[in-house]
Amino acid sequence: MEQVRIEQSDGVLRIELNRPEKKNAITLAMYQALADALGSAQSDARGRVVLVHGQPEAFTAGNDLRDFLANPPRDESHPVFLFLRALRDFDKPIVAAVSGPAVGIGTTMLLHCDLVYAASDARFALPFVNLALCPEAGSSYLLARLAGYPRAAELLLLGEPFSAERALEIGLVNAIVPPAQLLDTAAAMARRLAQKPPDSLRVTKSLMRRALMPGIEQAMAAENLAFRERLGSAEAKEAMSAFLEKRPPQFSKG
Ligand code: COA
Repeated sequence: MEQVRIEQSDGVLRIELNRPEKKNAITLAMYQALADALGSAQSDARGRVVLVHGQPEAFTAGNDLRDFLANPPRDESHPVFLFLRALRDFDKPIVAAVSGPAVGIGTTMLLHCDLVYAASDARFALPFVNLALCPEAGSSYLLARLAGYPRAAELLLLGEPFSAERALEIGLVNAIVPPAQLLDTAAAMARRLAQKPPDSLRVTKSLMRRALMPGIEQAMAAENLAFRERLGSAEAKEAMSAFLEKRPPQFSKG
């Protein structure tokens, strides 16, 4: 699929989000392609490490809001949930290279990556409340564990964009690099990981995530239910339509 490019070399499966004209907003078809790519990579011994990235201008603007309005997830078989489960359960290392906007799932998916490199121009955001939605990808649990409750609350309740420096400070990213060096840096780290004994990497990652898994699973189950309910709400429809119509949202006072 052109909007999700997959390339395999040197033990690294590279996944590139490639829809720059929409800032790499992720459609249902792209979620399906991402879920399929992770599913195949899980059992393909050639890919020892996954590297995920966008373009210099954008990592991803998150869920495609037009697609979400037209095809909201009704059950767990929706491609967004398939992708989130594939990401959660993936047991090989994932390296992410983030530049430009990383909105919504563009930030929450990083909580499931192992090494994250941010360009100095990366701009993160968790605008779920501003869209009248709620957190996803286990972020209601993982972010508070990572950053501490007050900082997670600030990011999730206010939903304001934050810088690469802030992301580094809360432990969301490993390092900030100049934009021109981002992809080379992340790719070099992915190749380094791909030289390591693959079974040992998988066992190590699984052991590190073992204690977190019950919390992630519980959070994701509750979030998925709430997210579906929120997407069907009048306030979410208004918030998303307002974005697409380039106007401020009008929420009812009730
Ligand atoms: N869903 C659907 N379309 C989106 C999108 C999204 N999440 N994000 C961006 N786009 C579209 C815009 O509508 C615009 O389309 P147009 O050229 O047909 O008008 C195009 O992508 C470029 O976006 P634009 O807003 O002009 O780029 P920008 O550089 O000014 O801002 C963002 C980039 C990411 C900050 C901004 O697009 C944004 O806030 N997007 C919404 C993010 C969001 O709320 N995601 C959902 C999280 S659950």
